[in-house]
Amino acid sequence: MKPKVLISQKIFDEVLTILKEQFDVDGNPLEVPLPPVQLRERLKDKEGAIILLTDRIDEELLTHCPKLRILSNVAVGYNNIDVEACSRRGIMVTNTPGVLDDTTADFTWALLLATARRIVEADRFLRSQKWSGWKLMEFLGFDVHHKTLGICGLGRIGQRVARRAKGFEMRTLYTDIRRVPPHLEEELDAHFVEKRELLQESDFITLHLPLYPQTLHYISEEELKLMKNTAILINASRGPIVDEKALVRALKEGRIAGAGLDVYEREPEVEPELLGMENVVLAPHIASASRETRLKMAMMAAENLMAGLRGKRPPNLVNDEVWK
Ligand code: GLV
Repeated sequence: MKPKVLISQKIFDEVLTILKEQFDVDGNPLEVPLPPVQLRERLKDKEGAIILLTDRIDEELLTHCPKLRILSNVAVGYNNIDVEACSRRGIMVTNTPGVLDDTTADFTWALLLATARRIVEADRFLRSQKWSGWKLMEFLGFDVHHKTLGICGLGRIGQRVARRAKGFEMRTLYTDIRRVPPHLEEELDAHFVEKRELLQESDFITLHLPLYPQTLHYISEEELKLMKNTAILINASRGPIVDEKALVRALKEGRIAGAGLDVYEREPEVEPELLGMENVVLAPHIASASRETRLKMAMMAAENLMAGLRGKRPPNLVNDEVWK
């Protein structure tokens, strides 16, 4: 008998076909998460599942899933899963690191450039047929080249962002819980500073941290106060890393100049006041959303699931302790 697996939301056909060859698949054909009660019901008799970052897996749900052996998340971040609770039950958790680094870094730059050069606002202006011709002082934005970029979190994605900054001839600062090796600092031309200095010095601050209890509201009132009033904040990591209400206040009071956001504290809700601000660019959590990358992520999740259910160590196991 084939192992029973759940695919919690719509997935690429190519991936679905492979999974159907190996498993008894219970799939959700919709691109909307199953309501918690349904998710629980459908996971009850499954040995494995492919889930997305909008599916919440908590301890309570796991108590209803005695057969579950692996949860394969289609995302690099896995803050939607109570990993400790999974480990206690011997359930493997996997993610999809690496394949999205360049795509996410590209998008970070798209957000940064769009915010600095007011591209979305200008597009709205032109479409509303308000443009009457070239003006010397219309849509003045901020230069990006030769400015100071502050990267919070120089992990895989942060490093790709730094690499791209060299093309803009920027001064790159970074802060993290630990320094990267000297040869990497040299290669990326990235200078380690403490968080306070980075916030005070940078023209653009971009966040590339995982969401942990320690990084919740990493940017809040106090941090926003340290930033220049010409600074632009970019977040393509996880929403709760920024205190969204504090950000709204800082933007309203002109304490910082703008923000480019791909993620929000209470997705899919967005602080209503952000929607009315011209100096923010808002994207619906799409930093890794290129055709190539999202397909790779889904394929990688399928490979993790297949390995785990065949009794092999999944290539991207997050909770190593269940394997020992
Ligand atoms: C997307 O946000 C991811 O974590 O992969």
